[in-house]
Amino acid sequence: MAFNIAIDGPAGAGKSTIAKTLAKELGYVYVDTGAMYRAMAYFFLQKGINKDDEAAITEAVDGADVTIRYENGVQQVLLNGENVTGCLRTEQVGNMASSTSVYPAVRTKLVALQQKLAKTTDVIMDGRDIGTCVLPDAQVKIYLTASVETRAKRRYMELMEKGEPADLEKIATDIKERDHRDMHREMSPLRQAEDAVLVDSSDMSIVEVVSAIRAIAEEKRGLA
Ligand code: DC
Repeated sequence: MAFNIAIDGPAGAGKSTIAKTLAKELGYVYVDTGAMYRAMAYFFLQKGINKDDEAAITEAVDGADVTIRYENGVQQVLLNGENVTGCLRTEQVGNMASSTSVYPAVRTKLVALQQKLAKTTDVIMDGRDIGTCVLPDAQVKIYLTASVETRAKRRYMELMEKGEPADLEKIATDIKERDHRDMHREMSPLRQAEDAVLVDSSDMSIVEVVSAIRAIAEEKRGLA
């Protein structure tokens, strides 16, 4: 059986940075499920579909073929055969992904793809519902979080480094709204699985978080 590590938590907690680093160290495949919801959202945006129009979104889902490929160990997301990885990390796509990921048609399709990937491969998968819904039998479950202030500051620094305009207060408001949507939706809301270990990265460096999670994984792997 494949060894699965599930990392869930709110936007900006550092999940992808941590998961990517750890995957490299352990020789596991990193699966970024947020990128799949973003690819779907990008498709809906391109089609001009309104985020509140569940009927149109449900109908459109069949026309969006999302697949994953790895190039030099880095996840690439293909939408109907086209590599859209570079188009996914904008605030617009992120907000659309948060809004449209509430719909069962979207979730059912992407969860099936995620479960298939984890069945035969040792993965570190990050998202919102990995430990609670996608991989309930994952050997390691982590709930990674950080305060809104810390997450907003991190995002602000990221945008500044890229030379993009950034407004700290607006980022914090967006984060709070996104948290609320992700935590209060009907289907698979973001929450800590009962058997997940809580890691609060507010006052921890990346190296500290990676080594804390690695220690948990290695202990479990020894027992597995
Ligand atoms: O992790 P991210 O910011 O790339 O995710 C974008 C949105 O996708 C997030 O706000 C909610 C949704 N998402 C989800 O519902 N379930 C997941 N497993 C991953 C992401």
